[in-house]
Amino acid sequence: MKAGIVGATGYGGIELFRLLHNHPQVETITLYSSSQAGENFEEIYPQFQGGETHILQDLEPQKMKENLDVIFLATPAGVSSSLTPQLQEGRAKVIDLSGDLRLKDASVYKQWYKKEASDGETLEKAIYGLPEWNKEQIQTADIIANPGCYPTATLLGLGPLVKEGLVKSDSIIIDAKSGVSGAGKNPNPITHFAHAQENFQIYKVNQHQHIPEIEQQLFEWNDSIEPVTFSTHLVPMTRGIMATIYVQLKKEMTEEELREKYRNYYESQPFVRVRNKGSFPCTKDVYGTNYCDIGMTIDPRTKRVTVVSVIDNLMKGAATQAVQNMNLLFQYDERAGLAPLPVYP
Ligand SMILES: NC(=O)c1ccc[n+]([C@@H]2O[C@H](COP(=O)([O-])OP(=O)(O)OC[C@H]3O[C@@H](n4cnc5c(N)ncnc54)[C@H](OP(=O)(O)O)[C@@H]3O)[C@@H](O)[C@H]2O)c1
Repeated sequence: MKAGIVGATGYGGIELFRLLHNHPQVETITLYSSSQAGENFEEIYPQFQGGETHILQDLEPQKMKENLDVIFLATPAGVSSSLTPQLQEGRAKVIDLSGDLRLKDASVYKQWYKKEASDGETLEKAIYGLPEWNKEQIQTADIIANPGCYPTATLLGLGPLVKEGLVKSDSIIIDAKSGVSGAGKNPNPITHFAHAQENFQIYKVNQHQHIPEIEQQLFEWNDSIEPVTFSTHLVPMTRGIMATIYVQLKKEMTEEELREKYRNYYESQPFVRVRNKGSFPCTKDVYGTNYCDIGMTIDPRTKRVTVVSVIDNLMKGAATQAVQNMNLLFQYDERAGLAPLPVYP
């Protein structure tokens, strides 16, 4: 198959390149850049030298949609909302890593992203690509809205509880932390090394654009769910997300019963691993992989559930999840091209 990556020079784009380079079904990869067309990708990123060279191409939507089988958009918010419609009605399927196509309600997108949403038809066609919960719809889609990194960790962590109606609907609190690569390759005053290292910072308090994405999916699972509290923190590490989730149960249950619910949902899912009693994952347990690891407990004093869900933001939170979606779109083995085990330490 022939794959294309728009935004190939960004963090998500280069991870996609690395994964597609090792993917058994991918024959050619065409890389696109809005700012460096004509330049040699392997000279910009010498870590990729030693094989074929790739010259960065200008975006030509008409040619792209006719010549490629799949196009990944690893671009900032505001790009795919107008680019995706131009890539329709050709041969290519589109997998968008940005937030542009995730929110079904255009006014909600505008409120949280401060940009105009894509057209209604494109938003309608875009399928939310969380494979563990949405496999059948993904398999027949033309456009995939790849989930955000925080929502991936959060939704996989909350799915069984919310879907089964086990939580008090107004009790969900998500305390999330991310490594610095979550902000992309261009540093800003918050992610600048001198500020971020040896520091720990909360940001976008009650304003993070992933809040409506999380609520949209929770509400789809269970329409009694009320707004959630979702806090995001920057951790001085390169990769990784940990979402620590607190909920109150509607009815008492044992920790064993709770763990069993998770196991029932995820035992057939190759990339979600549920921990045994007393074991909680850390971000290095999933470093460089498509895994989401989940641990849980119930505090016997407060009756509160704590769920800990970790992913690698650039992988399950972006590039490997996008390749998992590609595998489903093209009826390949869901695990094709996705390295099985983490780099450690
Ligand atoms: N970083 C993460 O952990 C993560 C996780 C999940 C989702 N995402 C989402 O994935 C997308 C990419 O994130 P990233 O971290 O890879 O960002 P990034 O490192 O900033 O890279 C984005 C790339 O987009 C390209 N670009 C910028 N403006 C463009 C335009 N107008 N038209 C076409 N291309 C343009 C740039 O490449 P050229 O200048 O070469 O065109 C840039 O290298 C974002 O929407 C982000 O929210 C990121």
